[in-house]
Parts: sequence; C-alpha cells; structure tokens
Amino acid sequence: MPLARSLSVTSLSGLEEWDEEFDLEDAVLFEIAWEVANKVGGIYTVIQTKARLTAEEWGENYFLVGPYVESNVRTQVELIEPTNPVLKRTIDKMNASGCKVYFGRWLIEGSPYVVLIDVAFTAWSLDRWKSELWELCDIGVPWFDREANDAVLFGFLTAWLLGEVNCWDLEIHPPYVVAHFHEWLAGLGLVLCRHRQLPVATIFTTHATLLGRYLCAGNVDFYNNLAEFNVDKEAGDRQIYHRYCLERAAAHCAHVFTTVSQITAIEAEHLLKRKPDVVTPNGLNVKKFSAVHEFQNLHAQSKNRIQEFVRGHFYGHLDFNLDKCLFLFIAGRYEFSNKGADLFLEALARLNYLLRVNHSDVTVIAFFIMPARTNNFNVETLKGQAVRKQLWDTAQTVKERFGKKLYESLLVGQLPDVSKMLDKEDFTIMKRAIFATQRQCQPPICTHNMLEDSSDPILNCVRRIGLFNSSADRVKIIFHPEFLSSTSPLLPMDYEEFVRGCHLGVFPSYYEPWGYTPAECTVMGIPSISTNLSGFGCFMEEHIADPTAYGIYILDRRFRGVDESCNQLTSFLFQFCKQSRRQRIIQRNRTERLSDLLDWRYLGRYYISARHMALAKAFPDTYLYEPHDPTSTTGFRYPRPASVPPSPALSRHSSPRHSEAEDNDEDERYDEDLEAEKDRVNIRQPYSMPFKNKLSTANGANGSSD
Ligand code: UDP
Ligand code: G6P
Ligand code: GLC
Repeated sequence: MPLARSLSVTSLSGLEEWDEEFDLEDAVLFEIAWEVANKVGGIYTVIQTKARLTAEEWGENYFLVGPYVESNVRTQVELIEPTNPVLKRTIDKMNASGCKVYFGRWLIEGSPYVVLIDVAFTAWSLDRWKSELWELCDIGVPWFDREANDAVLFGFLTAWLLGEVNCWDLEIHPPYVVAHFHEWLAGLGLVLCRHRQLPVATIFTTHATLLGRYLCAGNVDFYNNLAEFNVDKEAGDRQIYHRYCLERAAAHCAHVFTTVSQITAIEAEHLLKRKPDVVTPNGLNVKKFSAVHEFQNLHAQSKNRIQEFVRGHFYGHLDFNLDKCLFLFIAGRYEFSNKGADLFLEALARLNYLLRVNHSDVTVIAFFIMPARTNNFNVETLKGQAVRKQLWDTAQTVKERFGKKLYESLLVGQLPDVSKMLDKEDFTIMKRAIFATQRQCQPPICTHNMLEDSSDPILNCVRRIGLFNSSADRVKIIFHPEFLSSTSPLLPMDYEEFVRGCHLGVFPSYYEPWGYTPAECTVMGIPSISTNLSGFGCFMEEHIADPTAYGIYILDRRFRGVDESCNQLTSFLFQFCKQSRRQRIIQRNRTERLSDLLDWRYLGRYYISARHMALAKAFPDTYLYEPHDPTSTTGFRYPRPASVPPSPALSRHSSPRHSEAEDNDEDERYDEDLEAEKDRVNIRQPYSMPFKNKLSTANGANGSSD
C-alpha cells in the first residue's frame, strides 16, 4: 500500500493553532458509514463536507466505505479499478466469493476513494450471519427489521473487508489501519473486528443514541430523567432492543468512542454506559468569496426566486407587500416534536396574533421542509405556478406589442400618442389573464398530496391553530414535504440556494445531538434560532459571548416549561419582524463572521485527535498520544460585537438626512461596512489569544468589548 506522509496539524489563520506532529507513515484510514454517498440526514453532511480535509491529510490512504445504492452511484460516483494493489486483491477476492463490492471516486470536494458494498447481493448469507451473531453475543435480530438486517450484512461485510486488507503475505510490515465507524448501522463491523482480534485501531462515533431519539419522540421528560432510565426495558418496550445492543456493543468495543456534542456525551454516558473519550463537533466546508458582500448578493438573488414561487402560490390572494415579506423556514428529517415543529407552529400562531394586533405591515411566510410520504405535487400548487407563468407571458406579449408601436412611432419622428399605445386587443388579453387568477379556495398549506393527510402531525396542528393562509393572517404557512431540488417543477432551487434566500432558520429542537441546519445557516450568513438542547446551540453559547447579537438566537428549552419556551420563541420571532432591512443586513454580516468557528479546518482537529488516540491505544509500541489540555477545547470565545446589538429600538440611521422610510442600499452598505470594520478591530485580539488563557478571555476583553 502506498504510504501516508507524516502530518503536521495546523488550523485557520484566525483561530488558535494546534500544532501536533504525528507520524502517519504506514497508516491507512477507513471511514465506514451507511451515509457514504447515500443521503439520509446529517451524517451524510459530516462525511461529505469533511472529505476534503481528510483527503488532504491522508492522501491515497483514505477510503470511505458505504452501501452500494445504484441511483446514488449513477449520479455521484465514478467507478474505477482499485488503484491500490492490496485493496484490489481484497475486492477481487470478495467478489469471487459471492459479494459485490465496487471501488470508485466520490465526486465531491477532495474526491475521496469509496468502497461500496451491495448488501442485498449477499442477502443469502443473512441467516448464517445472524446465527453467528447470536452465538457470539446473544443478539437476535428479528426478520422483519429491514434496517437491522442491513446493519448485519453491512457489519459482516465490512469486517470481512478489513480482515482481508490485513492479510499480508509480504515481507514488509502491514500498514497500521484505523477504522472509523459512524452510528449504529455501521457499528457491527467494529464489534466483529475486535472479536476477530484484527490489528485495527477502531473509533466509534455516535451521532445520536437510538434510545435518546425514541424516548424524546415519546412523551418523556428526557433530560431530567437521564440517569433513571432502565435502558434495557425502555429499548425492549420500543422493540429496538437488538439495535440498542448493537449500538452499545460498538460503543464499548471501540478503542475510542466519540460523539458530536457535549449534550450527547452526557446522554451516551447514561444510555450507552460509556463516556465518550473525545467530543467531535461537526464542521462544514466553508467557502470564502473574494468579495466580502457576495453572500448578501446571493441572498438577494435567491430571495427573488423564492418571491417568484410565492407569487404563484398565493395567486389571487397577493394582497400583501412582497417587499415586506419575511421568509422563515424549518428543515430536516420529519420528527415532529424532536425537531420542534410543534413549538414552531404554536409560536407562529402567537406571532400572527401579535402582528395583527400591532397592525404590522410585515407578512411572514413560514416554510416547513420535512420529507413525508406523498404521491406527488398537488394540482392547486402546480396550477399556481402555471398561472404566474401565464401572467408573465401575457405581460411580455403586451410589452412586445407596446414596444413595436413605440418603435414605429419613433421611426417616423413622432412622439407616441400614449392613449393609443394599448389597444382593445391588449386589454382583452390582459383581462383574460386576470380572470384566470381568480380562485375560490385559499392558497394551499401543503404543496403535495399527502398519503397520511388526516393523521399528519403538521397538518393536524395547522388545523388546530387555524392558520389557513387567509388574507387576514399575517403569518402564512407552506409545507413542502420533500427535500428541495433544483430540478423540481415547483420550486426549482437546491437547499443551499433556498436557505440563502430566506431571512431566518427556525430550529427549536428538543432532541438534536448537533443540528446541521442552523450551522449551515450561519456559514451562509443567515440568522437562526436553535436551542440549548441542541449540540450546535450549546457549542455556540460556549464560544460566543453574546450569540443573539450575531443572529444566533438560542432558545431555552432546558430550564423552562414548553409554554414559556414558546413565548420566548414568539418573542424572538416578533423582535425579528420588527427589524428594518438595514438591521437585517448588519445582522447577516455578523452571522457570517462566525463561519470560521464552524469550518472543518478548525473543528477537524478533534477527529485528528480521536484517530491519534486510537492508534496509540491499538499500537502502543509505535504510537504515543499526549492529550491536549482539556481546557483548550473550550477556551475560545467570540467577543460581543463592537457596536450595540441591532435592536429595532436602538438602531438609527447614522445620517440625519435619512428618513425611516427609505432603506436605500447605498446607505446600508455604508453602515454595514462601518459596523464590520468596528467588529473586525475588536475581534482580532481574542482571535490570537491562546486557548490556555481561557479564564482571562472569558472574564476580560469579551465581556466589556463595547
Ligand atoms: N437538507 C437537505 N435538503 C433539504 C433539507 C435539509 O439536504 O431540503 C440537509 C441539510 O443540509 C442538513 C441535513 O439535511 O445537512 C439535516 O441534518 P441535521 O443534522 O440538521 O439533522 P438530521 O436530519 O441529521 O437529524
Ligand atoms: C442584500 C442585498 C441588498 C438587499 C438586501 C435585502 O443585503 O445586498 O441589496 O437590499 O439583501 O435584505 P432583506 O433582509 O430585506 O431580504
Ligand atoms: C444525527 C443528529 C443530528 C446531527 C447529525 C450529524 O442525525 O440527529 O443532530 O447533526 O446526526 O451528526
């Protein structure tokens, strides 16, 4: 196998450096997850965004292992012959023994190698492997649990792969293998590696505990009873005992156990009975634009496209000012209460009341992007876009006829007679188009035909709170029960474009080990609401002196009752609605300035640390791991912004000639630049402060930076 170079870990220029020399010569990294080139949720985002950094570090010695899913491979993977002789021999051998294993390059940044295993092709081994699992550790997997069956197949196949990789018949020393397994679905491979005593340094990362997710989705006071749960009984009651056992076994067998946040570390300690060795927070691949304001321009462009969609969706009821319309959204896997969609809806009802009694001219459109079972778009929503298109075409036709008349009049040297520019036919065309916009029903809440319409939690909640997109409502709701795609005939935007065009992401989760959605908002400069029960929310609270000032609203769901949290959420939303455009622009600038904190180039260090720790535990004669000062992971804090927070009451235009009514872009730019400059000057000092100065950072400059 080609050998990796030695590694020197450095980080972003702004944030603290963490220099570490660790000789990775002779080491190979396998990262195994069900979401490799296979999008389900946030784990895909972890693997996909981290790939570039990991590939930079490990070069040719980095291999991702995932399931073979034909539709994904067709669009994301270039299949090639294995470049590495050992891997080629391994794959050939497995394929000759009745498996289907593919090798390729995943076409994402970093172009990592992927080994994709077709688990269905080896389903003939399922019963045998299940018996082996039972013999080995008394875990019985029921026949009807398809996901667990896949986990068994995937586990045995990955352990087989790693076993073959380790079969060296050469004279030289085999490479030191690190195998990093993500989530319970991949965990069995780790258990088998340990049981077979393969010389592999193993890491297990849990992105959520199974039991935590299930318990929270039920009506349980989770965080106050963490230490009390009878875990076996709870897992048994929910018919996930076998899955729970696989997860717990992986956590315990791993040389190094990690999780994505402190809050999930506590959860894991109680529910999986092992305290994680390292917390590996999730990062993103942050893109930097050469023009500082580019992300603001992108916001304006994407917002225009969302406005177009809204024009179609609300045709016949466009009695609100689109320029005063704010786009809010919640997105992610459809776990109604875990993701806080329940709280969001309730807060929207309260916000609607507040906006109405205060005679606000702001209209809020709240998008719910959560995939549910549907049988396609509904006719009314498609019709809305068709009507909008027809109006556009009509306007173009009339414009062309008008232009022709104007041209002809100018050709003969005359100014046009305005009264004759539009003739009877033009009016007929336009009247017909206007008639087509008449509509008997309200604009729909849901864009698709739901299969379980009558029991759908979002729709039922909307029915209860009565937000039906009526004219009197200042808050409108659009439920898009499918992930977004640029090829959609309805809203042809990918998720990133959509987020950029919105004003605020709202993620009031009750159960959220990390929560990529608010993190993605942050790096795109879009403010968001998360909670102090989410990994992201806690991480930001820990690293920013005044998160709200940066557009990071953190809802208290830990120390308040549901009703109180709902009031707090309503108040966040109402305050947000009261901001002027200028204040929103300034706030977006501040939000975007936090990007470095979420960049893998900074957060990747925890993964690196976990790998070094695992190598040292598995191969103590070769590797030595010296832990970093534990305070070094928590010491960094962004100070308060230099100027006062953009509260509607305090922020005024800086020039007296400015009237409140004009929110002129040029002035916005000026204020915004001034603001940015002040903040930049202020932020420099803690940037270069060493982590070890945690106390002085926290008590000193940060607190009184204004
Ligand atoms: N997402 C997406 N398309 C959408 C909505 C969401 O790709 O239309 C992605 C989003 O970018 C994020 C992931 O889904 O990376 C959700 O991850 P998160 O950690 O927030 O939650 P999870 O679903 O893993 O619990
Ligand atoms: C960006 C653009 C501005 C635009 C503004 C709208 O900052 O650069 O030209 O006026 O977005 O902001 P809003 O919050 O009203 O969507
Ligand atoms: C899980 C969690 C989510 C986290 C993601 C990536 O799906 O539910 O909160 O962001 O994994 O770690």
